[in-house]
Amino acid sequence: MIIAISHQKGGVGKSTVAWNLAIALQKKYNVELVDLDIQKTLTYTNEIRRNQTALKPLSIKTFNNASDLKTYIDNDRDDVISIVDLGGFDSTINRIAIITADLVITPVSDKNFELLGLKSFEAILSQLNELIDGELKVKVLLNNINPQKAKLDELKSFIEKSKHFEILDTILRTRADYDKSVKNGQSVREYNKEGKASSEIKDLSKEIKKILKLQ
Ligand SMILES: Nc1ncnc2c1ncn2[C@@H]1O[C@H](COP(=O)(O)OP(=O)(O)OP(=O)(O)O)[C@@H](O)[C@H]1O
Ligand SMILES: [Mg+2]
Repeated sequence: MIIAISHQKGGVGKSTVAWNLAIALQKKYNVELVDLDIQKTLTYTNEIRRNQTALKPLSIKTFNNASDLKTYIDNDRDDVISIVDLGGFDSTINRIAIITADLVITPVSDKNFELLGLKSFEAILSQLNELIDGELKVKVLLNNINPQKAKLDELKSFIEKSKHFEILDTILRTRADYDKSVKNGQSVREYNKEGKASSEIKDLSKEIKKILKLQ
């Protein structure tokens, strides 16, 4: 089973979401994190995690070319959840992951530049849609949203105009715990279980389990 965390725009929270989701899901499932981020952010964070003996490190894979990724995806198994952290750029390797994933999650904030970035992503999805049967659907995750901002209707209707986008119910707000936790190789739940980031990530993993019909 493949979950791709994808957006060709940089810095939207792909690695942050992939990291926290992978740690949440590995409690119960066999999880592999595929690190295709050019900065290898999560591979390095996992090295910090290895030094924390109380924490189980993630199983991380990296691929340097599209054909190795394709072979990995072709051998995809139902009992392994692969979470693919894609780089913030457009490339063949990213496009393969988008087309073959069981679920594509696209984090996006409410900043105007990011919404423009989403338009470019939509254009890529339209092109990719020509290669497949049916409609290519991506789940947009509102991330890094100001905790004080209550009205998101305008943002939601902008996103839902596209036939390729559906919005996840869970919203991840701007929380300091994301940055603080990775310093120790932790997820936000491990860093501060009672915190708001922790509770939002819990909601996200529940929602994703429901979408993928995971037991
Ligand atoms: N909900 C959030 N609250 C606070 N900070 C966040 C949140 N989401 C992401 N960030 C911060 O934003 C920065 C960029 O996040 P991240 O590295 O996950 O983005 P990315 O999409 O993986 O970037 P790239 O495309 O360069 O790989 C990080 O410093 C991260 O801690
Ligand atoms: Mg990243």
